Amino acid sequence: MTQPKIPTAILISGRGSNMMSLVEAARAADYPAEIVAVISNRPEAAGIAWAKSQGISTRVIDHKAFKTREAFEAELDKALHEVKAEIVALAGFMRLMTPAFVAKWQTRMINIHPSLLPNFKGLHTHEQALAAGVKVAGCTVHFVRAEMDAGPIIAQAAVPVLSGDTAETLGARVLSAEHRLYPAALRLLASGRITCKNEKVHIYQEANDSSVLFSPKVE
Ligand code: GAR
Repeated sequence: MTQPKIPTAILISGRGSNMMSLVEAARAADYPAEIVAVISNRPEAAGIAWAKSQGISTRVIDHKAFKTREAFEAELDKALHEVKAEIVALAGFMRLMTPAFVAKWQTRMINIHPSLLPNFKGLHTHEQALAAGVKVAGCTVHFVRAEMDAGPIIAQAAVPVLSGDTAETLGARVLSAEHRLYPAALRLLASGRITCKNEKVHIYQEANDSSVLFSPKVE
C-alpha cells in the first residue's frame, strides 16, 4: 500500500534553486512529500515565477506590508493552513521566525544553510569559511529555531575547500551539495524516519557509511 504524501510548503525569498531541487525530487512517484505551495516574503523573488510555471500554487506575503513580525506570521500561518501544509521547508527564506511561530512547527519546519553548522552562521558563509582557512566546507539541514541558523541538525554534506577557491567557486560547490542534501533530508522527515529528543535528531534505519572525505585528498 502506498503511503499518503505529506503536504509540504516551501518558503523562499530569492532565486529558489533549492526550492527547485525539492520540487523536482518530489515528482518521483515514491517521494514521500508533495509540494503544495511556494510562498515568498518578497514580491520580486525569481523563484515564484518558476514555481508558477510548474503549476504549483504560489503566494507572495510581503513582510513589509505588516506592522509587526506577529502580523506577518499570522498571515503566513493562514496561508499554510489553507494549503494544509504539514511540513514547511525554508529555502533561502531570509526572515527570522518568532518563538511562538517556531513552537507551532517545532519538528515540522526545516531550513538549509550553506555551512557546516554551528560554524559560519548568518550571511557571507563562504567568505567566513575562506577567512577561517578551513579545508572542509558544506551545508546543513536543521529544524528551525528562533535563533538565526540554529536548531537540531538533521543532515549535513561536506565538500573540500580547494587552494585558489573564491567565495564564488566554493559557493557553487556547496550549492550543488545543497541541491542533493535538501531533497534527501526532506525525504527522511516526510517518511517519518526522524525523531527529535532533547534537541538532538535521531534517524531510523540510517545507512551505515564509514567513508571519509580527505581535504586535501590523500594519495
Ligand atoms: C542557499 O545557499 C541557502 O543555503 C541559503 O541561501 C541560499 C538560497 O539560494 N540560506 C541561508 O543562508 C539561510 N541562512 P536559493 O534561493 O537558490 O535556494
